[in-house]
Amino acid sequence: MDRFIIRGGIPLCGTIRVSGAKNAALPCLAASLLSDEPVILGNLPSVRDIRTTCKLLENLGVNFDVPITAGPDPTESEITDSELETPESARAFGEHGRMAVQAANLTNCEAPWELVRTMRASTLILGPLVARCGEARVSMPGGCAIGARPIDLHLKGMEKLGAEITTEHGMVVARARRLRGERIVFDRITVTGTEDLMMAAVLAEGETVLENAAREPEVEDLAALLVSMGAQIEGAGTSVIRIQGKPRLGGAMHNIIPDRIEAGTFVAAAGITRGDVTIETCRADHLQAVIDKFRETGLLIETPTESSIRVLGDRGISLQASDMRTEEYPGFPTDMQAQYMVLVTQAEGTSLITETIFENRFMHGPELVRMGANIRFDGNRAIVRGATPLSGAGVTASDLRASASLVLAGLVASGETIIERVYHIDRGYERIEEKLKAVGARIQRVPA
Ligand code: EPU
Repeated sequence: MDRFIIRGGIPLCGTIRVSGAKNAALPCLAASLLSDEPVILGNLPSVRDIRTTCKLLENLGVNFDVPITAGPDPTESEITDSELETPESARAFGEHGRMAVQAANLTNCEAPWELVRTMRASTLILGPLVARCGEARVSMPGGCAIGARPIDLHLKGMEKLGAEITTEHGMVVARARRLRGERIVFDRITVTGTEDLMMAAVLAEGETVLENAAREPEVEDLAALLVSMGAQIEGAGTSVIRIQGKPRLGGAMHNIIPDRIEAGTFVAAAGITRGDVTIETCRADHLQAVIDKFRETGLLIETPTESSIRVLGDRGISLQASDMRTEEYPGFPTDMQAQYMVLVTQAEGTSLITETIFENRFMHGPELVRMGANIRFDGNRAIVRGATPLSGAGVTASDLRASASLVLAGLVASGETIIERVYHIDRGYERIEEKLKAVGARIQRVPA
């Protein structure tokens, strides 16, 4: 398993470009199951979760050998790569992260345990497969490092749309001859749950209304793709989404939105090293809560254009503590909580961090303490006292965003930090070490 070796203490300077959003790309790839015509996606990030999704879709019979005749304009567990990278999925990545996929002849309707266990988002095929083929068999995901993460709300919603759901041998089986539109009120806000049911509803008979729906930009991006495939959807990006079902959808071309969490991670990297970094090809409006919170700590952040953010970490006042609470969009994202925690270890005073989305998302905390941070944990709250100098140590990545926080800690720590199990970070960050190296970081990947 690869590891990173980081020598900290260098202020980052220069420009970093953000890749496409993993969490938008995953549902958009799943949406290709809804049509027998080609779907051409652009700005797909070359990260492990995308390769896993390709493998999953290949298993279902999706063709990746579709010529990219045209495309959207370029915009700005422990498993090894060789197990996942089939020749087909490797070949499918084109220029500008383009990929053409076609689900003309689906031969299988099952997401097996080997894939679901490495990527919970495999459950995103449930809605589209039932809608298109009348049946889906998805291995029940277990808990993961950050929480139990049940899928009961996906299943309840599918049942409301008329699917018959059974579970046998750890497998959820959903069947319906044709789904029927319904009013569904989510008990709590779920991102992939909203996406799954939106994909089910676009081919259902009649109108579906999703209430208390997730408002994340990734939901809106999926809706944009579905609309260009011919779906009728109103209100994506708000908490009430109205969908008029259609008998069939066509092909489409679509560019994935920039990854707001990758962009936010680079904002934190620039701030924590007191550097001067411009983050390009991002969407500043998708990061408003993050920018506002970082500004509260004293960081000087500018948004020169709609698609760029400049962090003047070398100019602001010394960092000051600030409390933070994770919330659903448009609040501060849970996927930036670990990175924020590292930042406030370098801020004067006490910051109270409250995690409200997942019940076990402080796995990075004890690793940061080993590096010299002063953090106390109390249920879903972490009390960070700063500023404490961090010193390099051997640490272990436990999940995707936790790994990103350890990289940030390594960038500011004195001496050498060795991060084990960086396959977690490869799930969602495209060549993070190369991007950081280009702005001056001393970070090296040491292959297993
Ligand atoms: N929940 C339920 N029942 C459900 C679904 C969710 O109780 O049926 C609970 C979850 O256990 C959690 C809360 O509701 O406590 C919110 O979970 P949500 O369903 O919104 O999370 P998700 O859709 O599984 C997506 C992202 C995560 C991100 C969360 C929250 C994707 C592929 N994943 O997960 O991203 O943290 O939303 O914003 O979109 C990451 O990229 O590192 C990552 C974990």
